[in-house]
Amino acid sequence: MSQLQSIIHPAGIQASRISDLWWLMFWICAVVWVVVAGTALVAIRRGRRGDATGGDAGVARWVATGGGISLVVLVALLFQSVATGRALDGLRTGDALRIQVTGNQWWWDVQYVTDVPSLRVTTANEIYIPVGRAVRFDLLSTDVIHSLWIPNLQGKIDLVPGRLNQLWLRADVAGVYRGQCAEFCGLQHAKMALVVVALPPDDFERWLTANRAPAAAPVTPEQQRGRAIVERGPCGMCHTVTGTQAGGRTAPDLTHVGSRSTLAAGTLPNTRGHLAGWIADPQGIKPGSRMPPSGLASDELQAVVAYLESLK
Ligand code: CUA
Repeated sequence: MSQLQSIIHPAGIQASRISDLWWLMFWICAVVWVVVAGTALVAIRRGRRGDATGGDAGVARWVATGGGISLVVLVALLFQSVATGRALDGLRTGDALRIQVTGNQWWWDVQYVTDVPSLRVTTANEIYIPVGRAVRFDLLSTDVIHSLWIPNLQGKIDLVPGRLNQLWLRADVAGVYRGQCAEFCGLQHAKMALVVVALPPDDFERWLTANRAPAAAPVTPEQQRGRAIVERGPCGMCHTVTGTQAGGRTAPDLTHVGSRSTLAAGTLPNTRGHLAGWIADPQGIKPGSRMPPSGLASDELQAVVAYLESLK
């Protein structure tokens, strides 16, 4: 499915309100621009011909009228933006799906919060949500200020270290929506994207159930070797693969990495070649990223790639 990233194609109730406000502002400003430009043209023509303006009193009347109209328009737009803000704030419900999103330089940690710890799902850079149900994002940051923005679904909100922010949204149309970090957060800010996949509720429940399972067991000898390297080599120091000895918590969870559509927070499509290239040379692809070169021999690299690809 193609990815959408556009504020003028809202796919949810919050984005619709924001889009309505944007179009109202657009049309009012368009009319104001036409009136101002037209008036300026008339004034230039009259000035060239040397027509009388009606004297100082005439000018003062024009300025007062223009100022009055501007004031009314600005106050009206202000009221409409406040009304939109209040509407967004009012779109909260009790049975929302809770997802904790933590910003990191430069990736998104995603956890599906439940009261039962064993039912928690952890993933990264890809957020699945059900269509038609409210979702509450609990937003945190481990390092600097980031900002979550999924234009088709909601406005943006900052992720601030030491502070819990919340964002509510509801997708009303199934689809794949691209999001982006919208606050400059360092060298790879531009490569801190995410994908939100809105699925019909049944499909979403299937996804959630599948992702509660621990990592798939390796099948081929190459995959088995790959798992051993992930567990005992450098990967497991930072990454978790549930059900294995790899339990690092400072980098994206890899338990189901083979089912994701992108790598390195939306930087690369998740294909075998890109995966190998990313593991071999992360600093060439995303300079400054926290992922060091793995230093694996090429046969080890192939084994690790075969294993990670199998983690659907
Ligand atoms: Cu994170 Cu910009």
